Amino acid sequence: MSEDSWFFHNPVPVTFSPGAISDLSAHLHCRRAVLVTTRGFKVRGLVDQIQSLMGERLVGVLDDVKPNPDLPDLDEQGHRLRTHEPDMLIALGGGSSMDTAKGLARLVVQPEGRTLAGHFRDGEPFEHRPALPWAAIPTTSGTGSEVTPFGTVWDFEKDKKYSVTGTDLYAAYAVLDPELTVTQPLEITIYSGLDAVSHALESTWNKNASPVTLGFCVKSLQLALESLPTLKANPKSLEARGRMMQASLLAGLAISQTRTALAHSISYPLTTAFDLPHGFACSFTLPALMRFNAGADDGRLKHLARCLGYDHAEGLADALEALFETLMVPNYLSGYLPEQDSIMALANQMLTPGRADNNLRAAGRSDVEAILKESLDSLGFR
Ligand SMILES: [Fe+2]
Repeated sequence: MSEDSWFFHNPVPVTFSPGAISDLSAHLHCRRAVLVTTRGFKVRGLVDQIQSLMGERLVGVLDDVKPNPDLPDLDEQGHRLRTHEPDMLIALGGGSSMDTAKGLARLVVQPEGRTLAGHFRDGEPFEHRPALPWAAIPTTSGTGSEVTPFGTVWDFEKDKKYSVTGTDLYAAYAVLDPELTVTQPLEITIYSGLDAVSHALESTWNKNASPVTLGFCVKSLQLALESLPTLKANPKSLEARGRMMQASLLAGLAISQTRTALAHSISYPLTTAFDLPHGFACSFTLPALMRFNAGADDGRLKHLARCLGYDHAEGLADALEALFETLMVPNYLSGYLPEQDSIMALANQMLTPGRADNNLRAAGRSDVEAILKESLDSLGFR
């Protein structure tokens, strides 16, 4: 990191306010929008609300977003999407809806017949065309995807994860309305929130950090570490929901510049092998990673710890472990993960290029194994 030389660019216009969704239509410049979401929002009436807000400008609804968007599903959805001839996508939901919108925004501007599977599996090039504009209505607080230029797509047949990426994938508009998150189930609230915590920490111990991104991370963690225990005790607190939504946004702004690092690199095989939700997969190693990175600290981790009320990074690592206990993370993880040996066997797949190499302190396979073992031991996995 250099404090004297850095670049920052994030073009996403964002509105934050309880009830902000009622102004959606005025912010969207489109004539033929298609809503990309899950069936649950149709059942809960939110799809109808958006239809009435948008009127004739909403020409279609794709309501079969999958929890982790897979290449064949996206290609099939892209085929249906083309029949609507959209000029904008509106993603309503959590990270999966936004990842799906980004994948489709990249795909549907390509000539008919091109597929994401062909592109990622077989290396077929895409033509240089700007992605279809898309707008974000997040209903979870965690991914920050509403302000990042990258989305995750999975290939479960080949056990692989890919990214669609590019500055043309920044959202044309994002509306953050915490009222949309109040009914979120507790487990999703917790693992989404931990994803945001992970983003703020991963952006802090990141080679691409700048004074701007570090400032976002401090504020994000102040909000998240205060809000998550409150939400565990009172999931309906609109105030805590609003703070968590802003924590997620700020962490998203930070990783939009730095990307993530080793915790995310470690997480991906755990999601493909055990269906472990992303927010759990990328957060349970954070205390061990805090201690690991403290060994290469140039002052930023100590500063962060002090801003959060701890004397040093070790104190913050201990506080994260205590937070996991409060949020019952070990109980949740035991529902997904097998015994420790099966998890450790994946360690050789956990150094993902483009993520692990962003880490402040260089890590090899033996470091990953040590971080994984320390994390699993502290969570009670044997
Ligand atoms: Fe993440």
